[in-house]
Amino acid sequence: MKSILRHAMAVLLAVLMGSAAIAQTPAANDAIYQGLGGKEGIRKVVDDFLVIVLADARISESFKDVDMERLASLLAEQFCQLGGGPCKYSGKDMKTIHEDLKITNAAFNALAEDLHIAMEKNGIPSSVQNKLVAKLAPMQRDVVTR
Ligand code: HEM
Repeated sequence: MKSILRHAMAVLLAVLMGSAAIAQTPAANDAIYQGLGGKEGIRKVVDDFLVIVLADARISESFKDVDMERLASLLAEQFCQLGGGPCKYSGKDMKTIHEDLKITNAAFNALAEDLHIAMEKNGIPSSVQNKLVAKLAPMQRDVVTR
């Protein structure tokens, strides 16, 4: 009887510890990354985004001397990392890279609009779009200098 009780206690303890371990496991924080379709999905969004940017007369001039292939790969890295994916952004920080570009709020908004179009084109759910935009929005103060 004693040993049955001991066994029951051990089982109960194991169950409690197991559920505690589950409760302590943080919720997956790569929801944006997954929602964008992982690395492949992000690369498609970024490629479409940059085509739209280059065709956008409001801002295309800023990109005329830019290595767009390199920019695409840095943006993909950045979105992947911001989305909680397995990437490490290897570019310059937002303030340093944009500080001499004299970017206005209007240009920033135009770029955000182009990103929205690219995400729509790729069927990204608006909940995911909003979460990515929420990560990008605070960068406005480092990007806009005019
Ligand atoms: C949240 C908004 C933005 C993000 C996340 C962003 C992100 C980036 C990234 C990752 C790079 C590459 C950094 C590197 O080369 O090390 C870059 C470069 C660049 N960005 Fe942005 N950017 C934003 C807004 C803008 C806006 C509004 C414009 C102009 C309309 C702009 C124009 C440029 C240009 C011209 C470069 C290339 C600079 C160079 O190679 O010297 N960016 N941006």
